[in-house]
Amino acid sequence: MLKVCVCLVFWFGQTFGVIYQLNETEYERLPRLFELENYEKCMEDPGGIYCVANLDLYADSKNDLYTLIQEYSEFTLKHYNYSRIDRGVCVTRTCKSYASNAGLDINRDLREILEGCLNETLVNKYDIMARVLNMNCVSEKNKDQLNLDYTDYIFLGVFIILVVLSLVGSYCEIYSNDKNNELKHKKGVSANDVLLCFSIPRNYKGLTTIAESEPRVNVFKSVHAFRTIVTFFTVNCHVVFMIGNSFSADPHSFEKAYEYVLGRISFSGTNIVQVFFFSTGMLLTYFMQVSTETRQVTWNLIPKIIFMRWWRLTPSAAMVVAFSATWMRHLASGPLWDFHITHGSSAQCRQFFWAHVLYFNNYIPEDTFCVLQTWYIAADMQLFIVGVLIHFAIRNRSTRFRITTLTVLLLLAMASPALHVWWMDIDAFVMLKPETHRTLSDANFRKMHVLGHNNLSGFIIGLAAGYLVYYLQQKKLEYPNFKIGSFICWCSIPLYILVVYCGSLFYIDGEQSSIALRMLYAGTNRALVGLIGIFWIVGATLKFNGMSQAVMEWRGWVLPSRLSYSVYLLHYIFIDLSLGIRTQLTPVCFYNTFLISVGVFVVTYVVAVPFHLLIEAPTMKLIKLTSSENTEKKIN
Ligand SMILES: *[C@@H]1O[C@H](CO)[C@@H](O)[C@H](O)[C@H]1NC(C)=O
Ligand SMILES: *[C@@H]1O[C@H](CO)[C@@H](O)[C@H](O)[C@H]1NC(C)=O
Ligand SMILES: *[C@@H]1O[C@H](CO)[C@@H](O)[C@H](O)[C@H]1NC(C)=O
Repeated sequence: MLKVCVCLVFWFGQTFGVIYQLNETEYERLPRLFELENYEKCMEDPGGIYCVANLDLYADSKNDLYTLIQEYSEFTLKHYNYSRIDRGVCVTRTCKSYASNAGLDINRDLREILEGCLNETLVNKYDIMARVLNMNCVSEKNKDQLNLDYTDYIFLGVFIILVVLSLVGSYCEIYSNDKNNELKHKKGVSANDVLLCFSIPRNYKGLTTIAESEPRVNVFKSVHAFRTIVTFFTVNCHVVFMIGNSFSADPHSFEKAYEYVLGRISFSGTNIVQVFFFSTGMLLTYFMQVSTETRQVTWNLIPKIIFMRWWRLTPSAAMVVAFSATWMRHLASGPLWDFHITHGSSAQCRQFFWAHVLYFNNYIPEDTFCVLQTWYIAADMQLFIVGVLIHFAIRNRSTRFRITTLTVLLLLAMASPALHVWWMDIDAFVMLKPETHRTLSDANFRKMHVLGHNNLSGFIIGLAAGYLVYYLQQKKLEYPNFKIGSFICWCSIPLYILVVYCGSLFYIDGEQSSIALRMLYAGTNRALVGLIGIFWIVGATLKFNGMSQAVMEWRGWVLPSRLSYSVYLLHYIFIDLSLGIRTQLTPVCFYNTFLISVGVFVVTYVVAVPFHLLIEAPTMKLIKLTSSENTEKKIN
């Protein structure tokens, strides 16, 4: 009986034991998580074949080391899964003797050879067996073949048309003699007007001149600063994917980053994107109200408003997705290229291109890799439509009715993520665990974070902010001597960090936190970001934000902010590229990561200038052309 008990305890201990930390000596016992043999050397051999394999480790139940691996991997919050390892092997060199011993032919039985050879190595060294889950091979013969298909030609065609249009447009701009062009044709839109939308000098001027806006709109100047800062942190967060993804040189150091407060805080800040949703909502209701001052606004306008938004966003986004779907896969090659690009992001972009253009991609769970960050653009579009409908429904109602509606909606919006947590028993927010970095998929991310309706809370507070600012301006209220308010405005960024710090407490060792706590944080964290935002903007309206305003309303923020949409779209291409072209393990060093982030940020800005001039600026000009024509018609 005693024996049975002991056995049971032992068995339980074996299955449910979780190891939170290992010291270096213990950690060294585990098989390395990632290894890459030299790829370039392998490709120098005639007929060389290089394979990258994802292995699943297994052993019989009494294996000590295997138990250690399982118990260590069980703590998924801060540890990689060590029973799944990745190996890059030069099959024609390393597995040569295995193949000849087993009497197998390298060109025919590649999978068998790779599996057998890796299994043999692991059995000899660790007494652990391995089977291949996934493999991807590059051979010296077909390394640099370029197989273009019709989609590549379509993309190229569109690109050439854009370049030609902008050249012709610039030519017209520079050499056309009638300088008083603008005065001459008031009726309709001529071909010349359309061409001038593509003119590079004109668009460049538009990008770089900061015109004096209406005084009351100055309240929103700080949006530029917030947009730029949030874009930088988004880039930074995505660069960390590069380090934490497979084939990093020192996975243990990466895991240790979770032990530091600063590391945990930066792994918890995914709700920063609410700043964008907040400002979309705020600008939406504010400018809707401004436009009712000068013209009749009816329900018939809704399709037009939505189309204008769609048109403003889509050509740029579609070009980036189309590039990822087509030419991106021909840019380079390497052992990881097929996995990350050809069969990863490119393949998914081809499959789900339609969803990206219709802004539905965030509701497709399989669409994980294709220009990862575009989920935000889809969610933003969905929320914009909801926002327009809400505005039209409540615009002529009493203030009280509006407040009640928005409050009810806010409560519903806060309930939604909390209910998701409850139903699916997931984390409170996207916790960037090691395996999340490795596979870029996470239950919370796909099932909650990216869905439009779960991001409503920040957005609805934004809608309210738009009404509030307009109302305060109408009443001409000012309150510049509000000292505490001024202090809180200074603290808006520290306050945000405090919110994130609360989230980072979910990273403590031990059992997963209770469901109530998770629901509480999931429900409130987005709204808290919105509340900080609304406090800031009210401060700017009532002018009690003092000197903090001078920092955030600096003119220098305007230019980077104008490019931020392009930068947001483009930066991930560089990250995808560097994931794909790796042939060596990525060093894990946080100083390095910071430098890479700054590098990606700057390079993306440089690329964003021509991108903006070729695609984004012309689309904005074109839509202005049609709308100015319409207003003229109305006035006549
Ligand atoms: C590491 O941990 C093991 C087991 O807990 C222990 O025996 C060993 O002395 C430790 N090594 C160091 C360097 O602390
Ligand atoms: C680790 O990966 C293996 C193989 O994919 C899987 O069976 C196992 O459940 C994973 N372990 C954890 C703790 O997720
Ligand atoms: C790995 O090697 C062991 C021992 O040689 C063998 O029993 C096992 O079947 C092999 N596993 C695979 C997947 O080839």
